[in-house]
Amino acid sequence: MNYQSNPIIRLRDLRKVYSGGGGDVVAVDRLTLDIDPGMTVFTGPSGCGKSTLINLVGAFDRPSGGTVEVSGIRVDQLDNSALDQYRRTVIGIVFQFFHLMPALTVLENTALPGELAGMLTRDARARAAELLEKVGLGDRLAHRPHELSGGEIQRTAIARALVNRPRVVLADEPTGNLDSASSERVMNLFADVAAEEGASAIVATHDPDVVLRADRIVELWDGRIVER
Ligand SMILES: Nc1ncnc2c1ncn2[C@@H]1O[C@H](COP(=O)(O)OP(=O)(O)O)[C@@H](O)[C@H]1O
Ligand SMILES: [Mg+2]
Repeated sequence: MNYQSNPIIRLRDLRKVYSGGGGDVVAVDRLTLDIDPGMTVFTGPSGCGKSTLINLVGAFDRPSGGTVEVSGIRVDQLDNSALDQYRRTVIGIVFQFFHLMPALTVLENTALPGELAGMLTRDARARAAELLEKVGLGDRLAHRPHELSGGEIQRTAIARALVNRPRVVLADEPTGNLDSASSERVMNLFADVAAEEGASAIVATHDPDVVLRADRIVELWDGRIVER
């Protein structure tokens, strides 16, 4: 496995405050955490800061304070064009609501992030087909999303997240729409394929089946880590 130096992610004194009409909300409260390669789960009740933390690691949001270092990159210091590059190449994301394009086939959907990152269509599709084979969808390449089951859609989203060989793959409530048996199958597959591809996985979830599958559990409460 081509894992880089440990830890893959370093968060230091990280803060995220949302300011709005109703006043300030401290979503992440001076959080310090090292994340090693493997599969890490952020868990805890609704509103504890799981999604905010995922968004800060993926640079979909800027911290209000503190530092985010991923794979040796100080993400909090990147300018906008470097952030685009970071999101496309270092990070893969399995979106909460999947975001598959209804008009595109499974193969085209999976190849899309590769093409957006500058791969030739032919190469992106070859890479997509290889990953779809790994997630058990080798016979569904020409299907469209509406022809798939929930579990198959989620497996497509997993393959797509790995197309660009990210160091870190993020998933926010990835099993939210699945029954318990499908959710367990999808997460086992996610953990195995991510490891095989050399990507560290970070999953925000309150699904106990997903938590069980983690190498490390980070429990949050009010934007802080609960010490066990
Ligand atoms: N865009 C936003 N604007 C204002 N408050 C937000 C925003 N996003 C999240 N919050 C607040 O930040 C806290 C953490 O939210 P979130 O990270 O979504 O929690 P979780 O994913 O654990 O349910 C909550 O109190 C939530 O209401
Ligand atoms: Mg959330």
